[in-house]
Amino acid sequence: IYGEKRKNSKGVNLNINSQYQPLIDAMAAFMDSEHHVKPLLAFDVEDDAAQRHDVLSPYDTRQRVGSVQWTTSEQAQRAVDAAWAAFPRWSDTPVEERAQILERFADLMEEHLAELMTLCSREGGKLLTDGVDEIREAVDFCRYYAMRAREMFDAPIPLPGPTGESNELILSGKGVFAAISPWNFPVAIFCGQMVAAAVAGNSVLAKPAEQTSLIAHRVVELLQQAGMPRDVVQLLPGDGPTVGSVLTGDARITGVVFTGGTDTAQIINRALADREGAALPTLIAETGGMNAMIVDSTALPEQVVADVVTSAFQSAGQRCSALRVLYIQEDVADHVIELLKGAMAELHIGDPRDLGTDVGPVIDEDAHRQLNDYIARLKEEGRLLAEATPDAEATQHGHFVAPTAFEIDGIDTLESEQFGPVLHIARYRSAEIDRVIETINAKGYGLTFGIHSRNESFAAEIAKKIRVGNVYVNRNIIGAVVGVQPFGGQGLSGTGPKAGGPHYLQRFATEKTRTINT
Ligand code: ALA
Repeated sequence: IYGEKRKNSKGVNLNINSQYQPLIDAMAAFMDSEHHVKPLLAFDVEDDAAQRHDVLSPYDTRQRVGSVQWTTSEQAQRAVDAAWAAFPRWSDTPVEERAQILERFADLMEEHLAELMTLCSREGGKLLTDGVDEIREAVDFCRYYAMRAREMFDAPIPLPGPTGESNELILSGKGVFAAISPWNFPVAIFCGQMVAAAVAGNSVLAKPAEQTSLIAHRVVELLQQAGMPRDVVQLLPGDGPTVGSVLTGDARITGVVFTGGTDTAQIINRALADREGAALPTLIAETGGMNAMIVDSTALPEQVVADVVTSAFQSAGQRCSALRVLYIQEDVADHVIELLKGAMAELHIGDPRDLGTDVGPVIDEDAHRQLNDYIARLKEEGRLLAEATPDAEATQHGHFVAPTAFEIDGIDTLESEQFGPVLHIARYRSAEIDRVIETINAKGYGLTFGIHSRNESFAAEIAKKIRVGNVYVNRNIIGAVVGVQPFGGQGLSGTGPKAGGPHYLQRFATEKTRTINT
């Protein structure tokens, strides 16, 4: 078993008071601080009030967390120059040195857990449990890619050849990577992209999501503290069109690693292809999903409901892995839906800093409005099956969306992914299962998929036919673990390779063979 001896980080068990209380006490010190940050580039950046943007907390927009100075086009251009200049030196830096920086960085993130979690909560609206998972995943990415880098880059791979000839395969960095990351995993995905590109020997221009630049800034400060040279990894907070167009328009950008919407991935792909005189680029994209779960009549209803609630509503449904369409076999559908209504009535929607909260806010006003419009439309169509009730006082000043479940005929009737706590439920008859799988496959996405069934051959057959990256049987479909469930999809859901898997670093590397006639 690959990586069997490697251990993931333990994280913190919030249900154990001796672990929970010290963390909460430590977080209290960071709850009221304000953070005012600027781009972290190879050169010093002057203060520029015109580029400054306030950061408000999604759970209470009266609270200012700080402000971010956005990167200008000129600064982004100079950052590309610096990254390009840094590449040869960094690529020649021994992999052991590069890997050790990642490991020190992982240790520093663990040491600064309370501070990072506080920022995840105040800027990203994350629940405490999600915050713990977030930092743990980031730490795991660092240690996993450090291990993998040593295996891949430390020495040339000897190849067979005729007598009198030596053959070797040598891996090294490709050049400059732009890492464009989302707000929903502001530490884990942000770090995963950045450290993978860097440890493989590339210089990196990291463009965090507008919504979570403060977290990204603190993370890059820690990375620099761990020894990462400031011209090898630079942080370019700012808006997508300004920073993104410089990064994707420059012929010296060798590759882009992107996580976000499928539409944006397509825009990036076109921009990269249109660059004059540029070498063919690498695009690693992890995009959206329209993830489904099949529940047959042999499944355990209580377990199904617990896993559906987690899959659809944890992190307020703001995970690309989240469950969007639940297919329930007709014979058990009424019973499962009744149980689900009961479970949804128990959900506590409120302040993400309270351990008892199950569902926190969505990220911003746009998401809030878009989701509420969608929910209103489906309600008007008379499709509502269940709706949770937010805590009115705790949610009055934030971007909260009550989890809802709607009845639909099938995934083919859905126009687009709803990135929030909205679950669609369809019924199917046993004889229709092949058509259901074909319909899900025909949608073109292929990220996560769940099966609940105690019929092993049924589950095995479905798992084989479904075209997705991550299949989960008799459990929830979120929370992929580094090295255990390498994560990423196919089709409209992304290019691969899987993050946290043995093949990820390969895409950041170039290969050379060396043949010597001895
Ligand atoms: N990797 C994240 C998950 O599995 C998106 O939920």
